[in-house]
Amino acid sequence: MAASATAQRISAPSEEKSAITAMAFVADATAQSRLSADLFNMTLGKANIRDGSIDAALAVSEWPRDLDLLVVDLDEAADPVADAAALKTAVPGGCIVIGLGRINDVELYRDLMAVGFNDYLALPLGEGVMGRAAERALEVRGRGGAAMTPSGVALRGAKPRTLSVIGARGGVGATTTAIAIAAMLGNRLKEEVLLIDFDLHYGSLMLALDLEAIDALREALDRPDRIDALFIQQVAQKKAEYLYAIGAEEAPTGGFQARPRAANDFLRSVHRRFRWIVADVPRGDPVIQRQVIEASTDIMLIADLSLPGVRDAMRLQQMVHDVAPAAKLHLATGGLVDARRSAVKVADVERSLKRKVDCQIPADIPAALAAVNFGKPLPEAAPNSGIVKALRSFVAGLDAAGDEGRGEAPKATSLLARFAEGIKKGKK
Ligand SMILES: Nc1ncnc2c1ncn2[C@@H]1O[C@H](COP(=O)(O)OP(=O)(O)OP(=O)(O)O)[C@@H](O)[C@H]1O
Ligand SMILES: [Mg+2]
Repeated sequence: MAASATAQRISAPSEEKSAITAMAFVADATAQSRLSADLFNMTLGKANIRDGSIDAALAVSEWPRDLDLLVVDLDEAADPVADAAALKTAVPGGCIVIGLGRINDVELYRDLMAVGFNDYLALPLGEGVMGRAAERALEVRGRGGAAMTPSGVALRGAKPRTLSVIGARGGVGATTTAIAIAAMLGNRLKEEVLLIDFDLHYGSLMLALDLEAIDALREALDRPDRIDALFIQQVAQKKAEYLYAIGAEEAPTGGFQARPRAANDFLRSVHRRFRWIVADVPRGDPVIQRQVIEASTDIMLIADLSLPGVRDAMRLQQMVHDVAPAAKLHLATGGLVDARRSAVKVADVERSLKRKVDCQIPADIPAALAAVNFGKPLPEAAPNSGIVKALRSFVAGLDAAGDEGRGEAPKATSLLARFAEGIKKGKK
């Protein structure tokens, strides 16, 4: 039969390699049979092909840790890129993800690659197309290519990144969000991420993680020249495999005036050990606030859906614009009021700040309570919370933006070039 002939042709190398584990969520019956034929040899006939689309894949709560290949049908997705980004954060690090769909558009392809997909194939699938795409992606992964989900090793030489999280008002969930983002980012990149609480007097980050506050942070801000690998090893406390944190608890009476560029020098030293830093930025200390924002590559501003929230978000937006014009500003809405019951709507925030809201963090009191009770990041304490769902594509977007800073040109570029060339030729 044609199907088994295809399978034999594309899968010759599997004789010396062991079988790969593959799953697919595909709605189109013809594509399903193409897939089972194309992947037959490389999976020894064990590809798990399910009737469904990316929605069904997003509903999977636990993925096999050794999953090598995932194929998802994006055809019915209202926002395929957001769904793709969310899916990439959920699947195991080394898993190759290939999308399928009827849209044949280079923009979509580019966006999918940017969120970490390894390939995108247009339906209907030609004979052997999926097999060749899977082999190519596996080969790139085998060579440790950039198309593979980043690991600590793959990221060496990449640009340091500091994400500052700042609430427009008190209690909007800035600390909770900073911790959640750092935890999700570390797990996603398989890379150690450092959280720093820059509120030296009243910070709550260490308390939230059930870690010990230390005096050394103030010392380090005073004398950044003293920071070396040993110092960082001693003061950065490990919370999880990929999550570290530093925070202080200075006496309320102890005044502290950071010297000029203290935060910048401190962050630069710490970046020698941690590529990614997530900073919890205080609102009450304008000096340190300005310094940390100035030194950041990314800033997340969280506004609650209240009038003062919008006013202060506008003022902070202006401040970020003035002191860190090159940084990427991400706007989020949060707070403890349900968006459906708030006087101010997300659209009002967007109108006032003249930009889109990147992330709507819902109020989820049980999830926030679980995080507090367990002293753990919210994604660990309440993985199914809407808060985690809302942050997923944001975290994936952060990581995709990091690709720009890597030393090597990502392999995706050449695939993209090939794809674009194919389209041009097709048009001639
Ligand atoms: N999305 C949320 N839904 C419900 N409760 C939340 C949410 N985010 C945080 N909380 C809870 O709200 C309280 C304040 O959260 P958090 O400390 O993160 O806010 P903050 O903006 O950092 O506050 P501060 O201004 O004091 O630094 C905590 O009790 C936290 O558990
Ligand atoms: Mg806080």
